[in-house]
Amino acid sequence: MANKEYEISPWKQDFPILDATIINKNPLVYLDTAASAQKPKYVLEACLKNYESEYANVHRGIHYLSEEETANFEAARIKIQKFINAKSPNEIIFTRGATEALNLIAYSFGKKYLKEGDEIIISLMEHHANIVPWQILKEEKNISIKVIPVYDDGSLNYDAFLNLLSPKTKLVSITHMSNVLGTINPVKKITTEAHNAGAKVIIDGSQAITHFPIDVSDIDCDFFAFSGHKLYAPTGIGVLYGRENILHELPPWQGGGDMIKSVTMEKSIWADPPAKFEAGTPPIVQAIGLGAAIDYLNTIGMQNLHAFEQTIFNNMYYELKNIKGLKILGNAPEKGGLVSWVMEKIHPQDISMILNQMGIAVRVGHHCAQPITERMGVSASCRASIGIYNGLNDVKKLISGIYKVKDLIK
Ligand code: ALA
Repeated sequence: MANKEYEISPWKQDFPILDATIINKNPLVYLDTAASAQKPKYVLEACLKNYESEYANVHRGIHYLSEEETANFEAARIKIQKFINAKSPNEIIFTRGATEALNLIAYSFGKKYLKEGDEIIISLMEHHANIVPWQILKEEKNISIKVIPVYDDGSLNYDAFLNLLSPKTKLVSITHMSNVLGTINPVKKITTEAHNAGAKVIIDGSQAITHFPIDVSDIDCDFFAFSGHKLYAPTGIGVLYGRENILHELPPWQGGGDMIKSVTMEKSIWADPPAKFEAGTPPIVQAIGLGAAIDYLNTIGMQNLHAFEQTIFNNMYYELKNIKGLKILGNAPEKGGLVSWVMEKIHPQDISMILNQMGIAVRVGHHCAQPITERMGVSASCRASIGIYNGLNDVKKLISGIYKVKDLIK
């Protein structure tokens, strides 16, 4: 499987931080992209240039800089629209991240459409950001949350999902790709079934967006949420895609400047979407940085990126599987991007700490997804997750690092 062209990622050189030597003068081996991706020089320079020579507030002034910056900001929205194949830029709402996007829907959709006895379906493999907002809503509205179970191999119990659907189901909110198992869910099929039952569909695309092309029109979902920082863009920016006709019907979730057409002391008239959902000064440079990240990814092509990453992922998965005493969480047939594991008699925290001494960055814990971690029979695991900058050299260092951990803790 090993092949010279996959040894070192051709895109690694685009990421300045990856030249770093860290603890004990070890070169950095960054395997924590599922938590947050590193940033290419192209994005860093776009942000710096913007602050240095183009920056002003948007949608407010008619002075030169404000108009130019508004154009830059709206151009970023169009780049995102095209990147996920939405029908209109009006369907792209800027948020602080995927968490805020999911909370926005829970608040706004919940306020308008949900009433006592209604049901929401989520899955057991959700990140806390796609569990807790619904629990908050449950307290307020007396609705029920139904949970799709997960098989031992980490795949979704699709038949159970079909059985949970009923006329009471108002929303299905599900991850495209689990941040603990790497399982990729059949979101298009899920959307079709949910729509047949009369429910709306939200996809948490936080992990998926990083690894393969996303087409919201093809999936036909009603909402799609993701964060910029996992897509090689700055922190503090995320996206909520929403079908335009639905966004028109939803109430705003925060009030303030820029989300209104007019304000009197008696009442206000809301702006049209997306402005209706973007109260206050938005994360301007972060949005432009996300646009730059998309430009950067488009020069590579998400299909090419996916093909390269799959080789690295398959190799990492295969090598980890072959380590005696190491158990992988989730072996679903559709899986990618990351592997979480535990080891006999060695605490995940110790594994991570020892790998850290070798310059290898992996995540440890429940990965903000406690229910699925516990479903897999553990309270914590180690997770290695790849990005566009990882090559087979990184996998080799991870594997030899794990063997050293085994030697050290016998
Ligand atoms: N959701 C991120 C992760 O999985 C932070 O690590």
